[in-house]
Amino acid sequence: MNNNQAIIDMLRADMRDEHAAIVQYLQHAYALGESGEACEIEGIARDEMRHLDWLAEAIVDLGGDPDMKRGVVDLEGAGPIDWMARDVAAEERAISQYEQHLAAIDDPKIKRLLERILSDERAHHGDFEALSDELAAEGDHPPTVLEARTANDASPAVLDVLQTGVEHEYTVILQYLYHNFVMPDCEVGRELEMQAINEMQHMGWLSEEIADLTGHPRMEHSRLELKGSPAEMLQADIKAEKAVERVYTRQIDELDDEDLKVLIARIRDHETYHAAVFEDLLEHVESSGEAGTQSDEPVRTDESKPPESQQRFTVGSLMKK
Ligand SMILES: [Fe+2]
Ligand SMILES: [Fe+2]
Ligand SMILES: [Fe+2]
Repeated sequence: MNNNQAIIDMLRADMRDEHAAIVQYLQHAYALGESGEACEIEGIARDEMRHLDWLAEAIVDLGGDPDMKRGVVDLEGAGPIDWMARDVAAEERAISQYEQHLAAIDDPKIKRLLERILSDERAHHGDFEALSDELAAEGDHPPTVLEARTANDASPAVLDVLQTGVEHEYTVILQYLYHNFVMPDCEVGRELEMQAINEMQHMGWLSEEIADLTGHPRMEHSRLELKGSPAEMLQADIKAEKAVERVYTRQIDELDDEDLKVLIARIRDHETYHAAVFEDLLEHVESSGEAGTQSDEPVRTDESKPPESQQRFTVGSLMKK
């Protein structure tokens, strides 16, 4: 194994754990409902999304393939204080893994990145401990959605609409982010990332609805169409948009709840827009001769700047509504 490959393997493991942390923390934030604590946890999830983005960029720079698989998510626990203990434990695992990777890696640029991430993880560790104390001091407050839900509140048909939506949104977030990571044309990649951020909003809106009804949304994705030339990636993205546009359109007719109809219609309109954006991008790569470029080549050219100074939208914009 050459040195680069060893580093790539470590960064891929770090990506899987960042992905798991994002899902775990978002689930806890959704379940806490509207509260200062939920906002703070969403802020921590946004940090983890930036980490995911930077790790993927570093992997691509080294000639590797970003890993969209997910590490272990801990959704056990009886309530908010118990959840915070599990988040503290997740941060402890992250801190120890980044320390090990820092000790094993000599590349100064990668070390700088991991040190930057590690300082966030140490801060998160303290944040989750403080959140745990806050929740304990507040006693029953904030009222979590777990208390609000009853088995009869949620119609299975409504839940099915919401849950199908979450599954779609989670799938395309991962797919568009990956396509952004490996897309040779930076401008095309940036547009993909912008749409991924919009899909994250959709996932948040739908998940919060589910959390209000039943507690935790199920966060599983369906098949990802990751590989291919730039044109093939965009064709897969257009296909995903057109398919979900049809599903949401049908659901708007079937739903009785007016607020939910409005929400799904808003999301559906965004999907219509995404399909049009991707059609334009496809035309662009086809006319500029980039359509058949292999996507497994290193693509990033902005190495001179540290990730935090790049004037790009990052995954971190996720929950900013
Ligand atoms: Fe963290
Ligand atoms: Fe969406
Ligand atoms: Fe979309």
